[in-house]
Amino acid sequence: MKEGTGKTALITGASSGIGQELAKLFAQDGFDLVLVGRREETLDRLADVFRNNYGTQQITVINKDLAREDVAQELYDELQSKGITINILVNDAGASTYGKFATETEWAREKELIHLNVLTTTLLTKLFLSDMVARNEGRILQLASMVSVTPFPLMSVYAATKAYVWSLTQSLNNELKGTNVTMTALMPNATATNFFREAGAPKLVVEDMMDDPAMVAKDGYKALMKGEAKVIPGGLGNKAQELMSYVSPQEALASLMRKLLSPKHESGQDQKTPAWTVGIGIALAAVAGYALVRAYTNANPIDKARYRQQAQSLGDSASGTISSIIDSVVGTYHNGKAKVESTLA
Ligand SMILES: NC(=O)c1ccc[n+]([C@@H]2O[C@H](COP(=O)([O-])OP(=O)(O)OC[C@H]3O[C@@H](n4cnc5c(N)ncnc54)[C@H](OP(=O)(O)O)[C@@H]3O)[C@@H](O)[C@H]2O)c1
Repeated sequence: MKEGTGKTALITGASSGIGQELAKLFAQDGFDLVLVGRREETLDRLADVFRNNYGTQQITVINKDLAREDVAQELYDELQSKGITINILVNDAGASTYGKFATETEWAREKELIHLNVLTTTLLTKLFLSDMVARNEGRILQLASMVSVTPFPLMSVYAATKAYVWSLTQSLNNELKGTNVTMTALMPNATATNFFREAGAPKLVVEDMMDDPAMVAKDGYKALMKGEAKVIPGGLGNKAQELMSYVSPQEALASLMRKLLSPKHESGQDQKTPAWTVGIGIALAAVAGYALVRAYTNANPIDKARYRQQAQSLGDSASGTISSIIDSVVGTYHNGKAKVESTLA
């Protein structure tokens, strides 16, 4: 008997990207499915594929705009009236805008994304979690993000919503201790889905270093099934990036992220850049910061005063310094790669 036999997983945002890959994993493991999104035809096609390929018995497709007022309650009531018990909830549906908050993005879209990423996610969690706690059984996967723990200029409102999801998940995890109900935060780095296009972004520097949505879903699924509190999908570069975001200056991180979200044609960067260079860039920034703090702590009072004055004048150019570090790491990578390629040619 498969792991999911007799159980139902509800996946919001199942019509595309990470959500679609997650839905496939649940189908493969024998779960019944509730697939939610606005593209009903896509969800229906997906349901047919799952029935044919994996023999999924029960698939309920629900066409809903989850950015609407009171929609979470509506979805919950609909499932109650159908007598469907949700054993696993995946809050995947999410969206962003792209551009400068003060002058470029539209409030109407920001309001919608706050509704989708925050209000709907929170109420769905509350409604299904209280049933799970009453049964003392169930799992929830929350789509947080690497940007839950870093600033993300040009997607600032989006990043704030993902910081909310991350914070909520950590707190609830503590409240759930001692129960048989678990909640997992999935924190992907940039992933190759429709996400950036849907946000209205042009071709971005970060698009050369994107993760595969199938890999992200697989790591998320494994962590969910083990009841882990969080998971950073992918390799060491992503894990280093998360670690460094806790110890690096926020201004430096914002500067790095701004660079990654800049349009490709503006950056003058036309070569592929691997994700690990970002981790190393942040690591270098953190090591430099740590060395400075140590030097300051061990200095005598006069030197401390000098440091403070220098720090003030350096403050303005900090962003530039971090950008140079990243540029030099990226440059070193490209030079090394070119040398290896010419040797092998
Ligand atoms: N891609 C990344 O770099 C990345 C990184 C970290 C975290 N994430 C998070 O991962 C999740 C999935 O994103 P993705 O990358 O897979 O993007 P995606 O391919 O654009 O998928 C987004 C999904 O959300 C659904 N959705 C969007 N707005 C909706 C609405 N108003 N009502 C109902 N459903 C809605 C879409 O379905 P319909 O269009 O059918 O409505 C779609 O299935 C999001 O929460 C995102 O924040 C993404």
